[in-house]
Amino acid sequence: MGEMQSQITHSDTPPQINGMSSRIPEETKRAIMDAARIEEVVGDFVALKKRGANYLGLCPFHQEKTPSFIVSPAKGIFKCFGCGKGGDSVSFIMEHEHASYVEALRYLARKYNIEIQEEELGPEARQRESERESLYQVTRFAADFFSRTLWETEEGRNVGLAYFRERRFTDAIIKQFQLGYNPDRWDALTSEALKNGYDKKYLVQSGLTIEKEENGRLFDRFKGRVIFPIHSLSGRVLGFGGRILGNDKSMAKYVNSPESEIYHKSNVLYAIPFAKREIVARDMAYMVEGYADVISMHQAGITNVVASSGTSLTEDQIKLISHFTKNLTLLYDGDPAGIKASLRGIDLVLAQDMNVRVVLLPDGQDPDDFARTHPTEEIRQYLQDNAVDFISFKTRLLLGESGKDPIKRAEVIENILQSLAVLPDRIKRTVYLQECSRLLDVPEADLLDRLNGILRKNFRKQHKGEAEAELLEESGKTADPVRVPDQEKEAEDANDLVERELLRLMVNQGQQNTTQIYTDEEGNDVPLLTNVCVYIVSEVCQEGFSFTKPCHQALFSIFADSLAKEHIPGMEDLRMVEDPEVRALVADLAASRYELSKHWEEKGIFVKTEQSDRSTLDQAVAQAVLMFKLFRIKEMIAGLDKALARCEAEKDETGLMELLFQKRDLDQRKAFLCGMLRRVVS
Ligand code: CTP
Ligand code: MN
Repeated sequence: MGEMQSQITHSDTPPQINGMSSRIPEETKRAIMDAARIEEVVGDFVALKKRGANYLGLCPFHQEKTPSFIVSPAKGIFKCFGCGKGGDSVSFIMEHEHASYVEALRYLARKYNIEIQEEELGPEARQRESERESLYQVTRFAADFFSRTLWETEEGRNVGLAYFRERRFTDAIIKQFQLGYNPDRWDALTSEALKNGYDKKYLVQSGLTIEKEENGRLFDRFKGRVIFPIHSLSGRVLGFGGRILGNDKSMAKYVNSPESEIYHKSNVLYAIPFAKREIVARDMAYMVEGYADVISMHQAGITNVVASSGTSLTEDQIKLISHFTKNLTLLYDGDPAGIKASLRGIDLVLAQDMNVRVVLLPDGQDPDDFARTHPTEEIRQYLQDNAVDFISFKTRLLLGESGKDPIKRAEVIENILQSLAVLPDRIKRTVYLQECSRLLDVPEADLLDRLNGILRKNFRKQHKGEAEAELLEESGKTADPVRVPDQEKEAEDANDLVERELLRLMVNQGQQNTTQIYTDEEGNDVPLLTNVCVYIVSEVCQEGFSFTKPCHQALFSIFADSLAKEHIPGMEDLRMVEDPEVRALVADLAASRYELSKHWEEKGIFVKTEQSDRSTLDQAVAQAVLMFKLFRIKEMIAGLDKALARCEAEKDETGLMELLFQKRDLDQRKAFLCGMLRRVVS
């Protein structure tokens, strides 16, 4: 991260850049995107060397010694072959500076001296914007009020501040986290807010105030509690947690703000604005359970710590973290509920392709206890020495649960081998295998045998191309008869690849011509010169097929809609797409041709590119379309099979006949597609 950061509005002090009733007009966006030279934008942060048409540098998003970070001026994108990050100028600034889409656009506008003329929002959008803004204002007022009460009133100091000090929180940390106190009167905050002109509606919506239905009386939700404000990534107050002062077991220890237009628990992480820099700097995040745990760790000098307060870890929370690092360590006290919670977390983290480890603290201490009683370096050392890889952790936990039941043990083993098989690093796998053999008390050779079976199967699917794997399966040659628990996941991954391949061709080669074979009514093959995009869209739409993943479908629709207006979208159109997920997908797909050729080059194989060689392109398009259709048909067959089973169970003879006819049709189409595929790939 360099000195250049000073050029950007930092989100540590929340910038009020998102003007509440205006947005950046489409034309201005286009002007900004046109002006932004990717090599200049990236060049402000990364030293780049010219390599042919591209630039090469050290990736700013992960630690590396040899450069694998490529910037392509022609495509307007960057791509790292080490960590996989990629995108255009806007995504680079978003990623590198942890900025929002609009913040990034504004940064680029400043860099290229483009004036942003704000555009008025429609009445509905403005209404929503101003509702959200009103909620932000009321939570900010409340946070200030709670904090002022804590420091400046007698009750605040005697009760709230005394409590925090008893917990050994320093004044500095209390101020940093904006901790506060809500007076022990039924409407202290509410009446103060109303007096200051805040609308009752927003006080109630934000949950700060509770309105009694019977008589309309207003109460403070957090009455008599110490307050932990919950901040957004950019430091705005979204909601609060309020803790009782003592240990009265008859009261809820914490009361939290309810969900609102600005507070969605599942995608908020407590302390993220205070932790993000250190998470990036150390390329690692610690996840704890509670507010107090986070604060004590920060106070102890370990600041790459966040909490999923009050919910078990969600997918959105992991996405938020993965924006900053791929390395996550879960920190739990040793109680069984905590461990259970972390295992749920682990599966999610794995699904998100993160490296996850787990630390259990000694003697049932929680991170709060532990941090308060050890010096910084000792804490760091302990966390480092005791971080257990998820596989070992999972093995121990599952084994503990399955006991001596042989069937359950077999399931555990299969489950763990599946996890091992997705590890990309062979050496790591070997080490884990030894460890698992010890933990499971199963000879290493037996485990290796089974693992190799799984790996072979995965390898076939990945490297020989989906088409061949399909054909193998068709001809019953699939070697592996064991039903594995992750089969569904694998099918999902395969489908993902198929959909991506189709979209990749549209993004990279959409404007090229291609010759495709149609079969006419007499069954004759008729070659037809068409265009890649037109061909794919018509083939997909003709049958009313759609993509499984929403962002895949969104990208496809952009092509389809544009074709309806007789325009084939190119990179210059695609980079204007607003949806960040779709933009990321486009960048990823745009770069994937490089990936492929790099992969082959390493193996010393020369590949004809789709660009230079028409028949390679024709074949790729034909194969992608056929695979896509095959997957859709198989989906439909699976659906039919379920319906058939239902009819059978219900002895519904007419329904059964109807479905069997449909199934016969689908089976025929499947066989036809497989035949076509065989011709195309051979
Ligand atoms: N929590 C909650 N409601 C409760 C108890 C817990 O929302 N009744 C959430 C809070 O976010 C809390 C977290 O779960 O921070 C972890 O709970 P716990 O370990 O009990 O809380 P601590 O933060 O450790 O609180 P303290 O040390 O003050 O007891
Ligand atoms: Mn605690």
